[in-house]
Amino acid sequence: MTSARYSRIAGTGSYLPPRRLTNDDIAAQLARDGIETSDTWIVERTGIRARHFVADGVNCSDLAVAAARAALEAADCDVASVDLIIVATSTPDMVFPSTACLVQQKLGAAGCAAFDVQAVCSGFVYALSVADSMIRTGTAQRALVIGAEVFSRILDFKDRTTCVLFGDGAGAVVLEASRSPGLLSSELHADGRHVDILCVPGTVSGGQVLGDPLLKMDGPAVFKLAVGVLEDVARSVLDKAGRTTGDVDWLIPHQANIRILQSTAKRLKLPFDKLVVTVDEHGNTSAASIPLALDVSIRSGKIARGDTVLLEGVGGGFTWGAVLLDF
Ligand code: UT7
Repeated sequence: MTSARYSRIAGTGSYLPPRRLTNDDIAAQLARDGIETSDTWIVERTGIRARHFVADGVNCSDLAVAAARAALEAADCDVASVDLIIVATSTPDMVFPSTACLVQQKLGAAGCAAFDVQAVCSGFVYALSVADSMIRTGTAQRALVIGAEVFSRILDFKDRTTCVLFGDGAGAVVLEASRSPGLLSSELHADGRHVDILCVPGTVSGGQVLGDPLLKMDGPAVFKLAVGVLEDVARSVLDKAGRTTGDVDWLIPHQANIRILQSTAKRLKLPFDKLVVTVDEHGNTSAASIPLALDVSIRSGKIARGDTVLLEGVGGGFTWGAVLLDF
């Protein structure tokens, strides 16, 4: 008889670039181009108060490496023991190689498998689910799973409906094989009929950028889809694991908008004090938002060993998914 094999989080880490911009800073920047916004509008509609932007010359892999180093230290393990690196990002350093290979180079982890996952704001949940599958099947023993983004590079600062929403950052977990769970269940979805409601439609061809390389979003359409799928997928992963909403200690939805987070908690009948909120200080950091929120909550002592945590991602594609875990 073979013994059961699971994955569990051994440690987490995160990194925010030092340049912090308040809503007033963004409003002042937009005002120079005659575009009007205000701290009041942004806070009322989104709950965002500040975001961090990288300095010139700092790339996605730099943020990813800083978060990964912190996670390795928290897990008390050496990079040489890592045999899988997955980076979830929509803002990679280059067209290729993958940001995961650049992270591998900077960490000095030559030889292990390394690849990127592109599922926009659902990217971290996708990456964690893939790493869990690879660990449970014995393909990997210890994985670095990272969400890292430099969305400031793809924002249209002439479009006030999107540029006030996003920020840069990275979060990482060390996920390792274990005799007990760990990750309890996961589920991933996509619906390509909605590619147009959140996209960066440009590409590179013949040495030139073709199309628009800046973020486009139909905010109200994304909002409407998001609240429905976040409720459905949460219930589904709980069912799969034989758990109920009453078992959830902490809900960490993708940090897009406080109204989406609160509406998700309400639909699930979870009290707001079980909801992890970092969107106020980080803005929407896409694939980085969930591991950033997870790490901040663990380091502040909010999430403790043994707690049941429900992670939920939703974003461009349209993609969504969830992971239920015992920390
Ligand atoms: O990572 C996943 C993807 N992102 C999301 O989850 C975002 C989902 N959507 C949202 O969070 C919300 O739809 C937004 C925050 C983007 C917008 O909030 P909303 O309540 O849906 O506002 P709206 O788009 O219906 O716009 C309301 C008004 C409009 O003015 P009128 O037409 O009523 O005169 C906009 O022009 O607010 C105006 N507006 C702004 N005003 C000041 C839009 N952006 C701004 C702004 N400052 N930055």
